[in-house]
Amino acid sequence: MIILGVESSCDETAAAVLVNGRLASNVINSQIDIHRLYGGVVPELASRHHLQNIYPVVQAALDQAGVNLDELDGMAVTQGPGLVGALLIGLSFVKAISLVKGIPYVGVDHLAGHLLSVFLGEKKPEFPFVALIASGGHSSIFLVRSYFDYQLLGRSRDDAAGEAFDKVAKLLGLPYPGGPVISRLAVDGDRQAIAFPRAWLAPDSLDFSFSGVKTSVANHVNACRMANRELAIPDICASFQEAVAEVLVQKTMQAAEVLGVTNLVVGGGVAANPRLRQLFVEQCLAKGCSLFLTQLEFCTDNAAMIALAGSYQFEKNKTLTYDMDAYSRASILQ
Ligand code: KG4
Ligand code: ZN
Repeated sequence: MIILGVESSCDETAAAVLVNGRLASNVINSQIDIHRLYGGVVPELASRHHLQNIYPVVQAALDQAGVNLDELDGMAVTQGPGLVGALLIGLSFVKAISLVKGIPYVGVDHLAGHLLSVFLGEKKPEFPFVALIASGGHSSIFLVRSYFDYQLLGRSRDDAAGEAFDKVAKLLGLPYPGGPVISRLAVDGDRQAIAFPRAWLAPDSLDFSFSGVKTSVANHVNACRMANRELAIPDICASFQEAVAEVLVQKTMQAAEVLGVTNLVVGGGVAANPRLRQLFVEQCLAKGCSLFLTQLEFCTDNAAMIALAGSYQFEKNKTLTYDMDAYSRASILQ
């Protein structure tokens, strides 16, 4: 079974080919340098660049895998959630190939892609598992019972974890995306230097809220500026990162404990954060849980995870018709 995956939900144009479940190519064209000028993703620019990039990216994925369009058994494309203008580029491209070549295609939920991306790694979890997906758009905890059965246990009530990293970076005058640069600077900082708040919410709540910690960083920065005090950027980064990571880890561990599930999965762009990974390793070791961290290259947006999630849908014969539309918010997981 040869499957082409296509992803264009935000600022990465990506295509990948899976041959009998093995990843044969994984091409990602990132628009970060374009959006960095504006401090975040500009939807209209994202769409225009997806349009320019989609054909060469798909062609490169096919070439690297050594297959041509006629050899494809199916295609998988991100249907949502994401920027609709951006999603429509990938979706329309795949629909066009499908119409011309008669190749069936499936629409994949971007979050399902992140949830299943752990299966692209060497170490694969058994069901059921509790999964934390922390990205630029979502911070959610799921109970995953099968490739298709996801129960949402908790979600962000305001900013997603990655969004908080991006906004704090902007406050500190650091480039977009904030996560990688904050985690690099945090290495030289003191995690206990500033006591930024942790929003635990109600004791049994598995929801997240990161807007408070972001505001607290803004207040700290303003107070320093008013007092003409130099900003201790590494300390701010390390203390902020600790506040976010601690809540993400603790609530995921709490979900696993309450449900009596011992397999934990972590995915999404924020799962690339070294401190978050380290805290999960420590906590899982202490609690006797098995930890499955998504491989670094598959944490941030990619089409390999879309091809993989799509391959399971093909096994179930869940193909789409041509009137399928992209969706911005209404995730199939909610
Ligand atoms: O999964 P992803 O590529 O796109 C979405 O689906 O949103 O995640 C992107 C997010 C950005 O907010 C970025 O700042 C964050 O992931 N991120 C990180 C790190 N690398 C990327 N956050 C914290 N630490 C990192 N090392
Ligand atoms: Zn994503």
